Formats: sequence, structure tokens, C-alpha cells
Amino acid sequence: MLREMIPETDMDCVAEMETLCFSDPWTPEMILDSLHTGLDTWLILEEEGEASGYCVFRTIAGEAELLRIGVRPPLRGLGYGKKLMEGVVENSRKNGVTAIALEVREGNTPARSLYKSYGFKEECIRSDYYRDPKEDAVIMWNREISNIYH
Ligand SMILES: CC(C)(COP(=O)(O)OP(=O)(O)OC[C@H]1O[C@@H](n2cnc3c(N)ncnc32)[C@H](O)[C@@H]1OP(=O)(O)O)[C@@H](O)C(=O)NCCC(=O)NCCS
Repeated sequence: MLREMIPETDMDCVAEMETLCFSDPWTPEMILDSLHTGLDTWLILEEEGEASGYCVFRTIAGEAELLRIGVRPPLRGLGYGKKLMEGVVENSRKNGVTAIALEVREGNTPARSLYKSYGFKEECIRSDYYRDPKEDAVIMWNREISNIYH
């Protein structure tokens, strides 16, 4: 089941998943800042009452940016990443969004494959964009999200 994050009860769990999924995890303070912008939507994927993954995307002026997406390491490869992407696309469509952007580490093959399967195209590279470890970013866009049918 996909549902919106409830800050009061989900914060610890989301912060924990951040540390499991990223080498530069967002702290609870950064997550709160994101929630306070009023621009960001946090979704939690729950399977059998347990949070298995999450994502957050920011919507501004008819365009969205996927900021984070993660699935607990033991649960990867089971289709949960796709369920989260479905949530991003469906929610964005409902809000009249026509295009979604994201950035991804060049070496992140699983994520790049996931995004490609949702019609995202690689548009440019930002050299040495990431730290810890240093790596290029690939900027991907889907400018026709109304055409994604999974
Ligand atoms: C990226 C991530 C969210 C994918 O989640 P997941 O639940 O494993 O993904 P799914 O099982 O739904 O797989 C969806 C698609 O992703 C791709 N994929 C997933 N694992 C892959 C792997 N090990 N190698 C290559 N492609 C892979 C495939 O295209 C797959 O579709 P397919 O099964 O039809 O081939 C997960 O690997 C993750 O949490 N990574 C750490 C955090 C991260 O890097 N987030 C992205 C930052 S930009």
C-alpha cells in the first residue's frame, strides 16, 4: 500500500531508510525542512504493515523533481521500486504535472534502468556533481508523463 508520510509517526523510519539507501543520508532536520516547504510529497510503501520503501518529489509550476527514492536493501528486486514510481507518476498526473526530472549517480545501474523503464531519457551529465564518493550525475527527464502506461 502506498500512502503519504505522517511526520509524527514515520520520521524515525524514513530517516532510518535514508541511512540504509544513501551514502549521504538526509537527517531528520533535512526531512522536516522538506516537509515544511509545502512543495514536497513524501510517499511510504507499506507491505504487511512494514515500511519497505519511500520516495519524495517536489512539484513546482507544473513540473516535478524526484528527490529521493529508496527500498530497504533486503527487499530490492521485488518490484517495490516500480510501485513507488507508479505513485510518483499517478500523483503527478493528478496534479496536472506534465514533466518529471531527476538526477542519478552515473554508476547507479539499478536506478537508471528503473527510470528508463518509466520513459525517462538521459539529457545531460553534471561532472563531479556528487561527493562521498565523487561521481558524475546523469540528469534525466520524462516530458510526457501522460504517456506512461505500466
Ligand atoms: C533504485 C531502487 C529504488 C530500485 O528499487 P527495487 O525495488 O529494487 O526495484 P524493482 O524491483 O521495482 O525493479 C524495477 C526495475 O529496476 C531495474 N533494476 C532493479 N534492480 C536492478 C539491478 N540490480 N540491476 C539492473 N537493473 C535493476 C530494472 O529495470 C527493474 O525492472 P525489471 O525487474 O522489469 O527488470 C533500489 O535499488 C534502491 O533503493 N537503491 C538505493 C537508493 C537509490 O539509489 N535510489 C535512487 C537514487 S537516484
